[in-house]
Amino acid sequence: MPMALFNTKGVNYIYQMPSLPYINKYMQGSYVYDIDGKKYLDSLAGLWCTALGGNEARLVKAATEQFNKLPFYHSFWNRTTKPSLDLAKDMLSMFTAREMGKVFFTNSGSEANDSQVKLVWYYNNALGKPQKKKFIARSKSYHGSTLISASLSGLPALHQKFDLPAPFVLHTDCPHYWRFHLPGETEEEFATRLANNLENLILKEGPETIAAFIAEPVMGAGGVIPPPKTYFEKIQAIVKKYDILFIADEVITAFGRLGTMFGCDMYNIKPDLVSVAKALSSAYVPIGATLVSPEISEVIHSQSNKLGSFAHGFTYSGHPVACAVAIEALKIYRERNIPDHVKQISPRFQDGIKAFAGSPIVGEIRGLGFILGTEFADNKSPNDPFPAEWGVGTIFGAECQKRGMLVRVAGDNIMMSPPLTMTSDEVEELVSIYSEALKTTEEKVAELKSKNN
Ligand SMILES: Cc1ncc(COP(=O)(O)O)c(C=O)c1O
Repeated sequence: MPMALFNTKGVNYIYQMPSLPYINKYMQGSYVYDIDGKKYLDSLAGLWCTALGGNEARLVKAATEQFNKLPFYHSFWNRTTKPSLDLAKDMLSMFTAREMGKVFFTNSGSEANDSQVKLVWYYNNALGKPQKKKFIARSKSYHGSTLISASLSGLPALHQKFDLPAPFVLHTDCPHYWRFHLPGETEEEFATRLANNLENLILKEGPETIAAFIAEPVMGAGGVIPPPKTYFEKIQAIVKKYDILFIADEVITAFGRLGTMFGCDMYNIKPDLVSVAKALSSAYVPIGATLVSPEISEVIHSQSNKLGSFAHGFTYSGHPVACAVAIEALKIYRERNIPDHVKQISPRFQDGIKAFAGSPIVGEIRGLGFILGTEFADNKSPNDPFPAEWGVGTIFGAECQKRGMLVRVAGDNIMMSPPLTMTSDEVEELVSIYSEALKTTEEKVAELKSKNN
């Protein structure tokens, strides 16, 4: 029976990923049940987001209490609610990579990134730099799926047939060392080359036209791509040189995923603006936000005073229930020292999976903390992908699913980003299912190879 809703649908491969009966229920820890009662280890935490697992009673209580107290009020025209003020204060105190000045609330990561573009444009107009409007993002980045955030994203599928990207968006290199380094080039040299390419792009376009650079500390949906050594140090020096703002898209990396509270802490990034969502409420209710530096917020504030308003916002910006849940989530991250938990448990997660890097069908396994990607390839080479119609990633995903584990499949990339509360026992189970699924996938690939020889 056709579904009554539009859903994202993948390509038809030889091996079709079995569609999943609807997810019906979370249970303790990192598991979900489908509607038939089958249990799965949720290695992607929903969509990189249920950071505290699926049944954190304190979040439910925070929502219920707020529903009973004040289920809604808006944040327009100098009005707002206490939860949104309290949450903004908490976020500003938790973000310590540099001082931030203000928080603007949205309902999602996409809206946060859309809002970044408007904030930056408004800021540059206020500064009398109306020509400084272009954005530089990176190939393979993911920043969301609204018109602007999809434009910023560097994934072709988000642009094709949507008349995107918007003309003010430029894309620079993807920092994927394994795939793009030149023979004999070290990670540091690769990072230098990418920084030089970025500088050349800026000079070609005219630095006076480039407003901002946006980057995920670790690329997520593009295939889990951590930066090469020295990358952010070199990139930050270039953008600073040309008075270009740095936007850190921390929608996946914020609140402990890399073993630090923010991705900016991991890579010593000093951003002008930051986008967050997902783990902000452990995904229990939709909420996103942008953190804005004091310098930018002051300029925006004085410009809006001149114009009479800052005419940007959403009905649900700073929704009190979403904010109440987020306040509680942040309290839990701090109380339980979630980044430390990730630091302690993740070596087994990373090493356990990276132990399979020698598999003949694995090209690369990469990641840190609680984020990990596997890319299948022949001959260990990024230049030898398996034929797309073999659907090697899909075979692996289906084998995991059969054994009770959900992973994210994108072509021949497998992504995992488990709840930040994942326990050692759950990690052991994850590694064991991965191992069995990989073995079966190797056998199926061998069969496909012999059939096609
Ligand atoms: C880095 C990053 N930015 C932005 C987004 C978009 O967030 P949302 O789906 O909440 O709009 C995502 C979603 O996966 C993301 O991973």
